[in-house]
Amino acid sequence: MLSPPRVIRYATVTSTQDVARRLAAAGAEEGTVVLADTQTAGRGRLGRRWHSPRGGGLWFSLILRPSAAPGSAEPAGAAACQQLSLVAGVAVARGLERAAGGGLRVFLKWPNDLLAGGGKLGGILLEREGRGGAVIAGVGVNVAFPGGRPSDLPGATDLAAVTGRSLRPEEVLPPLLASLGETYGRWRTEGFEPFRQEWLRRFPLLNRPVTVAVGGEILAGLAADLDTDGRLLLALPDGSRRALAAGEVVWRCPSPTSILFLSSGRPAGGHEAGSPGQ
Ligand code: BTN
Repeated sequence: MLSPPRVIRYATVTSTQDVARRLAAAGAEEGTVVLADTQTAGRGRLGRRWHSPRGGGLWFSLILRPSAAPGSAEPAGAAACQQLSLVAGVAVARGLERAAGGGLRVFLKWPNDLLAGGGKLGGILLEREGRGGAVIAGVGVNVAFPGGRPSDLPGATDLAAVTGRSLRPEEVLPPLLASLGETYGRWRTEGFEPFRQEWLRRFPLLNRPVTVAVGGEILAGLAADLDTDGRLLLALPDGSRRALAAGEVVWRCPSPTSILFLSSGRPAGGHEAGSPGQ
């Protein structure tokens, strides 16, 4: 459990990740939240742009300082950060369901896309701050796109569309932060296993054929499991299994888009790769 977070709100920033990284490097305490009404250079995973219109969503970064073991001064290593990225996905999914007050089920796509109503509702970007072992958990949730979903984000959705309710970002923030605080505390005391199980229950592509982009490589196989570090275990056609720590599940196979993706090396449509933003 984090102590009540200190929220620092900005009207406009380039990216809340940049501000949080600077604050973390200057010694900001764990639980500090950098929130912005809009970002001019919001970023997503794999170098993508993150569309962050004013009032259209929640754009914030949470400073965490996970240790290698409870009570230890040594910062957590890469495997723990991989776990944390999935734990954060579970936390935000729970928080959004709480904020919606019932009737909303949030799914997860490895590593930590938040899906609902057939679209991408949000995403999480974990970055490590070089000095001092801080981890910056950036959370972007589309609450209500002003003027409707932008035409260049065909795969995106927002909370208004999936709940039929007009929620405001300020209403969604407290349950999200509460869930992140609780979940982080439980992860530190109970470990990853309970979250691994819940993550898998929220993963609609479990045991289904998927295509995964890993660096320059495109792998097709069955999304078989998550290992104890949060890596995706992909069962390959030759019977072997590969543990993936980075990359992204791109499309479910077989679908026309996945076939086009495989044959051209880039997606023919959709928002998941090669297109800007969520
Ligand atoms: C993704 O799905 O690619 C992750 C998106 C993360 C977006 C959030 S918005 C707040 C924080 N600031 C950023 O620039 N990015 C993250």
